[in-house]
Order: sequence, then structure tokens, then C-alpha cells
Amino acid sequence: MTKKLFIKTFGCQMNVYDSARMVDIMRALGFEETTDPADADMIIFNTCHIREKASEKIFSELGRFKPLKEERRKQGRDLILVVAGCVVQAESEEFMNRAKFVDIALGPQTYHRLPEMLRRLEQKRKQRIIDVEFPAVAKFDSLPQARSNGVSSFLAIQEGCDRFCSYCVVPYTRGAEYSRSLKEIVAEARQLAATGTKDLMLLGQNVNAWHGEGLNAEPCDLSRLVKAVAEIDGIERIRYVTSYPSDFTDDMIAMHRDIPKVMPYLHLPIQSGSDRILKKMNRRYTCAEYEEIVAKLRTACPDIALSSDFIVGFPEETDEDFEQTMELVRRVTFAQSYSFKYSARPGTPAAAMKNQVPEEIKTERLERLQALLIEQHAAYNALFLGKETKVLLEDKAKKDGYLLGHTPQMQNVVVKAPENMLGQIVRVRIAKTAATTLDGELL
Ligand code: SAH
Ligand code: SF4
Ligand code: F3S
Repeated sequence: MTKKLFIKTFGCQMNVYDSARMVDIMRALGFEETTDPADADMIIFNTCHIREKASEKIFSELGRFKPLKEERRKQGRDLILVVAGCVVQAESEEFMNRAKFVDIALGPQTYHRLPEMLRRLEQKRKQRIIDVEFPAVAKFDSLPQARSNGVSSFLAIQEGCDRFCSYCVVPYTRGAEYSRSLKEIVAEARQLAATGTKDLMLLGQNVNAWHGEGLNAEPCDLSRLVKAVAEIDGIERIRYVTSYPSDFTDDMIAMHRDIPKVMPYLHLPIQSGSDRILKKMNRRYTCAEYEEIVAKLRTACPDIALSSDFIVGFPEETDEDFEQTMELVRRVTFAQSYSFKYSARPGTPAAAMKNQVPEEIKTERLERLQALLIEQHAAYNALFLGKETKVLLEDKAKKDGYLLGHTPQMQNVVVKAPENMLGQIVRVRIAKTAATTLDGELL
């Protein structure tokens, strides 16, 4: 009898990838994914620790499953509750104390041991399991084959981070930088292509730190890896995320120009437009260096869409520092972006800095920055009005008879098209634009 697994993912694309791999693991144990938690035999929460709000949300959502678990117990059936991800890695003891009804807590580097944990749980009922080690043998070596779940897939090529930006928990929750081998990545990309993937997003917390060896043991960087992946039949579109500005080399820029499968889209977070604040953040580049990379990229690849992350209200950020961020945004212009209020994270150097910025000031700055960014996103999208573009139809839209897809520049497009066109790359004319979505007509 197949059992049902409900999995809820918070946080970044790496967590989405990890969740997909946990589904692959559980499939081998006879579990099938369900979208209804009431129907599940096992529930996994894959958590994120990046900002305070993200962590707190998890406790309140998780609490809702306590009555469901108790009800199941009364019926003589069990509901296994698993919490995975970065919150667990950061505070496993605290977490298990706050959520006493959770059976298994595991970190981002131990989920390949899930089958063994389930066996242990079965043998020793009522004993809870915590596994937050960083095992010496990389989990990637013991995962089952990846399978596509649609035409767009994520593939983790690099994990962990050695950058230690002063505000960030990732180096502590994900550990040190680790690059998977080129051979392993190409093999996984082939499996994904063979099971339906056309659009591949290569993932890493610091993706352009990826390095490895080619087939003849020659040293390779990300541009060489991308070249190898681009040779796989069936893979039509390649993107990679997230890039750290000072690791962005001329070879990477040339790759955008020379490999047609590399999409004209780049997420290159700057975080702040003030060099003083960048230094306090331990971001090892200046605004001038960032703008120089952008200028080179735009020369090599004029249609590239640029995206960034921003943090407002970092400790000691003055009105003047913030105005410099606004000025930088006006100079560079972004097609997409994500912006956040600084959130003090326990154990990070920035949390102990003096002159933390009051909440109301953060709110006000975020509103002003987002208003400017949304204006830029809308203006960028408006350039496409009436133009022809290619859209990969990836999913059904909410509205009946419509499908959702992306342009090469990663814009969301809604297209009226029959469901049997899912998975196709179609020519579309853009009929309407807004800050976050385009309406397209099939040509
Ligand atoms: N590796 C990526 C970012 C990963 S976290 C990079 O270096 O760009 C994603 C984004 O969350 C970051 O770019 C940053 O903008 C934001 N972020 C991280 N820690 C934060 C914190 N403590 N408070 C607010 N935003 C934060
Ligand atoms: Fe965090 Fe900085 Fe590493 Fe990105 S580069 S994951 S922001 S420490
Ligand atoms: Fe969150 Fe961990 Fe990703 S903290 S952003 S899920 S690496």
C-alpha cells in the first residue's frame, strides 16, 4: 500500500531542491506525495532560518499539526512529523523543546539518512531522533536518482558558504563550501533531462565559487561546467543562482555571450549602495566594482535582465547610506529584485553591533526602496509590450484555460493555451505588462 507524504518548503531554492530529493528518497520507501496534509502518513517541514519572521512562522504553522497527530494516535494510526532544514541546524535542542510532538529533526546535510532514521523510530517508539551532523561523506553520494517533476528543475551544484557576511546564518546552517563533481552534476542533469526537464537552474549559496575537474582532470570553473551541461540534449535553458559579485569573472561574462542556452538573466545581489555599509556587512566589493561588472555584462549581453537582493536598516545605516542605495538603484536599474528589512540573527556578528536601526525607520526605508524598485520592474517589463518572445509553458495558471511560463529573462507570463502544450517553448506576443506578470498571446 502506498503511503502519503506531505512536504512543506520554506526559504530558498536550495530548500526546494532538498525537498525534491527527500521526495525521491521517500518514493523508494513506497511514499507518494500528497497536497493534503489531512491525508498524510508523514509530514515534512523544510525550514528556513534566514530572518526572524521566517523562523517564527514555522512554529505557528507546525503547531496546527499537533491536534491532527493526536487524533491519528487515537485512531491507532500514526502520523510521523519531521522537521528538516536550517532552523533545525541552527537550534535543534531548542526546537525540539518547543515542538514536543515532532518525531524527527534533521539538518540540511543529513536528510539522505532519513530511511535509517525511520527504521530507528519504528524500533524505539516514542524516542525522538535528532540528526544535525555534518557527515564526512557528502549526502550527494547516497541520494537516489533524481527525477523531474515538471519541465523546470533545480540542481544543487555547490552548497555551503565561506563568505561569512556579518548578518547571515547560512555559513552556520549549511556549513563550509562544497562543490559537487562535474561528473556527478552532468549525470544528474542527464537524468533530469531524460525525465522531462528542459529548464535547469543550477544552485549554490555562492554558485560561482563552484570549482572542479574536467574529464581529463583539468581545473574547471563554473563557465566550463555550464558548457558541459549545455551539451546535454533536452536541456534548453540554463540559469544559475546565487552569484557573489566579486567572484564574477570575465569567463562568466563570455559564457553569457557565447552559449545560447544560457538565459539572459542574472541574480547578482548587491545588498547596499553604501560602501561603508558593504564593508560592515563584510561584502568584499565596492559599488564601483559592482557597477563595472554590470557594465561589462550589458556590453557582452545587451538583453540581460538583472536582479538583486537588498537589505535596509543594517546596523549603523544612516539616512545618507540609505540614499546611496536609492541612488545606486537609479543608476543601475533592475528588472527584478528582493528587498528585506535587516533582521538580527543570533550568533552573527551584526547582531552584536551597536546602533541597531529602529523598526519604524527600517519600515519607512523598505517602503521607499520597494516603491522605486517596483517602478523599475514595471518599466522594464513595459519594454516588452507588443514584442515577440519565447515562453516555456511550465504550469497551469489559476484561470481556467491559461498556462504559466517564463521568458528567457525570467519574467512570468500568462498565456491562453491548451493544457497539452505544457512543456513546450512557444512564440508569444506580449499584450499587457505589469511589475510582476506579463500577458502573452500565442503566435
Ligand atoms: N548567498 C546569497 C544569499 C542567500 S540569503 C548571496 O550572498 O547573495 C538571501 C538573501 O536574504 C540575501 O541576499 C540577503 O539579502 C537576505 N538576508 C540574509 N540574511 C539576512 C538578514 N539577517 N536580514 C535580512 N535579510 C537577510
Ligand atoms: Fe550569506 Fe553572504 Fe554566504 Fe550569501 S555570501 S550565503 S549572504 S554569508
Ligand atoms: Fe533559508 Fe537555509 Fe536557504 S536559512 S534561505 S533555507 S540556506
